[in-house]
Amino acid sequence: MTVFVTGGAGFIGSQFIRDWLAQHPSDRLINFDKLTYAANLENLASVEGAPGYSLVQGDVCDPEAVHAAMPDACDLVVHFAAESHVDRSILSATEFVRANVLGTQVMLDVARARKAGRFLHISTDEVGGDIPAPRAFKEGDPLEPSSPYAASKTAAEHLVNAAVRTFAIDAIITRTSNNYGPYQFPEKLLPLAISNMLANRPVPVYGDGLQVRDWIHVADNCAALHLVARKGKAGSTYHIGGRNPRTNREVLGMLLGILGKPESLLTTVTDRPGHDRRYAVDCTRMEEELGWTREVPFEDGLRRTVQWYQDHADWVARAKSGEYRDYYARQYGTQTR
Ligand code: NAD
Ligand code: DAU
Repeated sequence: MTVFVTGGAGFIGSQFIRDWLAQHPSDRLINFDKLTYAANLENLASVEGAPGYSLVQGDVCDPEAVHAAMPDACDLVVHFAAESHVDRSILSATEFVRANVLGTQVMLDVARARKAGRFLHISTDEVGGDIPAPRAFKEGDPLEPSSPYAASKTAAEHLVNAAVRTFAIDAIITRTSNNYGPYQFPEKLLPLAISNMLANRPVPVYGDGLQVRDWIHVADNCAALHLVARKGKAGSTYHIGGRNPRTNREVLGMLLGILGKPESLLTTVTDRPGHDRRYAVDCTRMEEELGWTREVPFEDGLRRTVQWYQDHADWVARAKSGEYRDYYARQYGTQTR
């Protein structure tokens, strides 16, 4: 099988590639990634020498580059590449529209021209916007994004659905809740909080900290994506969630407990503008139609994640200081092979 992955050097994409190649070592897998600030080739060190694996540095907004990198009739395209951080989209949305909207259209066009098999589009539960309790966001519900990031992901979904309807391509959309685990860039809540706590630095809590997110371990999400890629119904959307809703304060309290740090490290700061209060995906369809279950209990996954960041202080330091580009140059000489 030939698999074309975009954004595979990021947090979720790299977990997907490590897991895919562990399970299908004879597959050919091409990782097409621009290598933005969020990418990290260290995440892929374990697959660097795998016979079927190759990396191409390129931008999903560049049709010629994607066309050149994608083989004819590849079996599966998994489109992770995106600008992914809500706070950055609030500071400046332009790159989010470019990468997430234009980039998705380019991927759809090239996949069709190259006669690719299945197109798996990775979206987010944020497209549903704020979900007041006790409601859960279902696959057919209206899309009401709040942030520029979520709006760009919503636009991308519409383009995928338009291609399904107009050109009858085999595409599937997945919407996942908040992932956590190793190799996550330390601008997102969990890696930022863990690394700050380890350094006895304050942890910013936006507003009252009572916003609810549904946490899922990144390995459970990637197992779900494998399942959808193999068994999902063409033209469908699937919700992938942790069934694990927690307030931010609750999660931060658990981290303080694991690390034995004082609550005084939690520092209230101005709230995120337009901050969604609650996300809650209904993932019944994944469970009932595809028989999906989660493997990683939250307490256990959180403990292991904390341990990973403790053991990878150098990775965190490089990420925080923006030294990745130098690291690539030292480690690999060239960024592609
Ligand atoms: P990430 O920011 O860690 O990684 C994004 C990757 O995409 C990086 O390797 C980056 O270099 C690459 N990229 C960005 N712009 C590109 C471009 N123009 N061309 C080629 N590559 C480009 O993101 P993540 O957290 O791993 O998220 C991956 C996907 O999953 C995104 O589509 C995101 O919207 C979605 N998602 C993330 C979460 C989460 O909790 N992290 C939850 C639901 C959905
Ligand atoms: O729900 C899925 C989404 O989860 C993905 O689509 C996004 O790519 C991913 O970034 C994530 O978005 P969030 O905005 O939920 O994640 P973030 O880690 O930025 O924030 C989680 C919660 O913690 C949110 O309520 C904001 C809050 N927060 C965040 C940071 C970075 C803080 O209180 N302090 C912080 O320093």
